[in-house]
Amino acid sequence: MKENNLTLGEFIIENQKEFQYSSGELSRIFNSIKLAAKVVSYKVNKAGLVDIIGGVGEKNVQGEDQQKLDVYANEVFIKTLINREIVCGIVSEENDDYITVKGNDNSNNNKYVILMDPLDGSSNIDVNASVGTIFSVYRRISEVGTPVTLEDFLQPGTAQVAAGYVLYGTSTVLVYTSGHGVNGFTLNPAIGTFYLSHPKMTFPKDGTIYSVNEGNYIHFPQGVKNYIKYCQTEEGDRPYTSRYIGGLAPDIHRNLIKGGIYLYPTSTKSPQGKLRLLYECNPIAFIAEQAGGKASDGFSRIMEIVPTALHERCPFFCGSANMVDKVEEFMLDAK
Ligand code: AHG
Ligand code: MN
Ligand code: MN
Ligand code: MN
Repeated sequence: MKENNLTLGEFIIENQKEFQYSSGELSRIFNSIKLAAKVVSYKVNKAGLVDIIGGVGEKNVQGEDQQKLDVYANEVFIKTLINREIVCGIVSEENDDYITVKGNDNSNNNKYVILMDPLDGSSNIDVNASVGTIFSVYRRISEVGTPVTLEDFLQPGTAQVAAGYVLYGTSTVLVYTSGHGVNGFTLNPAIGTFYLSHPKMTFPKDGTIYSVNEGNYIHFPQGVKNYIKYCQTEEGDRPYTSRYIGGLAPDIHRNLIKGGIYLYPTSTKSPQGKLRLLYECNPIAFIAEQAGGKASDGFSRIMEIVPTALHERCPFFCGSANMVDKVEEFMLDAK
């Protein structure tokens, strides 16, 4: 058995200097995330035994049917973050508006906001496939001590101070960056501790996997159609392998390890794309870039987009740098 002795908690303490602002506060945010992740992981593992499968009969602000696990994970992450009074505001896929977090004394003294997709890959819950959690942390713009404002959340991805995802797969893995590379930690469920299992993760420069919902092919822009045909053409290391789980976190995790590209383009059905800029694209883009990969909307860098709405969507092309460059070439040629 491979021995991994360094825990996530120890790793954060050892690397405190990488948190450029306040080491204590960011460490406490991570403590909350890992606690909530363990609670969700435990529940996910019991899906089928406990009443957590299926929908709740409500729609979220994006018009998606909420699943029981969407609502459960949302509550667990929000409660954990609020109870520990470590952020001043929270945005979640499952909440229409941002949440203002106040201290017990009604203060607004925390410096960070968090944006999250509490349960990514909802359609995978009922079929026992992988799901995830995605999160993004920013330093607030508004003055400490005042209530949090909308502009604290509408910052470009380049302003992120930390981001990551938890993948509830064959094992539960937490992958994060605070702007100094990417590291992954695997949960030992017997003792409830995350151990460093994937140090210094890097996106291979090239890859042979492309991940896209090809059922939407007919609705894709011409540049994407041409790129998909290129992936399928026999030449050199092509045709590439097609792999699509239908969950951003698991699809990106596989491609990060093996080399590949994830595509969720605009389509006539979803003219802005489907993925949400603030709590899906930006955190994954930060991870990708920190691992040496790239993330683009087809023409320009995801993390430089200036957001205008909490739940705004954008097309997303993310993965091995040379593959993202290639799809951008195709997009430009077909413009
Ligand atoms: P969520 O479950 O958080 O709403 O996200 C679903 C997203 C993303 O995880 C995945 O990559 C994509 O939707 C899959 O969409 P399609 O089913 O349209 O392929
Ligand atoms: Mn959803
Ligand atoms: Mn999602
Ligand atoms: Mn979700």
